[in-house]
Amino acid sequence: MCSNISQRIWGTVTGDVLKQLAHSASRIALLNDENTHRLCVPLLGKLPKEITFIKHPAGERGKTWMALGKLLEELAQMGLDRQSLLYVLGGGALCDVGGLAASLYMRGIRCVYIPTTLVALVDACIGGKTAVNLGDLKNLVGTFRSPEAILCDTRFLATLTPVQILEGWAEMLKHGMVADARHLEQLLAVPDPFEGGMQPELISSSQEIKWQIVQQDPYEKDKRKLLNFGHSVGHALESWFASHGRPLPHGLSVAAGMLVELELSTMYAGLHPETTAMYQAMIRSLYAPYWPTMPPAVALLPFLRMDKKNYRHAHRFTLLKAPGKGVWDVEITEEAILTAYQKVWYS
Ligand SMILES: NC(=O)c1ccc[n+]([C@@H]2O[C@H](COP(=O)([O-])OP(=O)(O)OC[C@H]3O[C@@H](n4cnc5c(N)ncnc54)[C@H](O)[C@@H]3O)[C@@H](O)[C@H]2O)c1
Ligand SMILES: [Zn+2]
Repeated sequence: MCSNISQRIWGTVTGDVLKQLAHSASRIALLNDENTHRLCVPLLGKLPKEITFIKHPAGERGKTWMALGKLLEELAQMGLDRQSLLYVLGGGALCDVGGLAASLYMRGIRCVYIPTTLVALVDACIGGKTAVNLGDLKNLVGTFRSPEAILCDTRFLATLTPVQILEGWAEMLKHGMVADARHLEQLLAVPDPFEGGMQPELISSSQEIKWQIVQQDPYEKDKRKLLNFGHSVGHALESWFASHGRPLPHGLSVAAGMLVELELSTMYAGLHPETTAMYQAMIRSLYAPYWPTMPPAVALLPFLRMDKKNYRHAHRFTLLKAPGKGVWDVEITEEAILTAYQKVWYS
């Protein structure tokens, strides 16, 4: 039950599917939030009467220590035992907190994800990282534990806003950039990412890239660090905006982070300056309309210093040396981060 292998099942998710998959479970709970309850539950059709709903706060509001505690209490009040199953119907935030609750409650109960955003489908549902934030610090508390299955159904994506599709697209671009130049080329050839982000073939090949990486390094000792590209500066930005009461969604933060980390890739990992300029132009053209004014570089330093990837106070970044070829654990000075950030946002 605690392995890092999940079965990925593509197809229409219905009440019957949920019932079949739960087979021997003593109780079945379905975690959702106000949006997935309204927009995604109706797509499941008639649900078996054994399923009990648990409503959780949406987005990062649900990824707090307090919200996790409340969820665990609800599981106990509902009388869930070790043979119970928790379905999680939601985006990355709900998968993160639901997966964490399922891994902690009674030291682990069965859990199945039904991702409903592109970020969740291509990224968060795979690889077993569960988490809540600690204050404004992203994902500081969590476990490694994969759900036993992931139900992949693109019908849920139909109600996402264009910017939510672009957020998932950022993670797909990241997968291509760090590990698969062919996937990246396929993505860059798509005329309209809003449509591309709905295509099961592209989603599935993006999932496969992450899947291959985490299978080789489930606990992020080395190769899995590739997936952190864009996330050092990205998480710092996400934390800074959250601490200023103006949350910047994860995918938009990561896209902004990639812009800076591409710059650092040319400075410290040998990425050809023309490649950097081309990718930066592509990212700007897609994401600039949705970005707020970025904070000054020094404001990010306290958040960068708390990054889980740091080692003995040194900043360690994942950078690109070529398209589809990432390198990890590159030591970067604060001065270099400030220089790259300044160049990207303020020159
Ligand atoms: N564990 C991992 O490996 C991993 C990877 C990537 C991201 N994450 C985490 O995932 C989170 C971001 O996930 P996200 O981008 O899915 O955002 P989210 O989970 O915060 O969801 C954003 C909003 O979309 C709503 N929503 C969900 N499904 C919907 C649908 N089908 N239609 C309309 N609205 C819908 C949600 O209710 C919420 O209000 C972050 O907390 C990030 O840290 C985790
Ligand atoms: Zn991410």
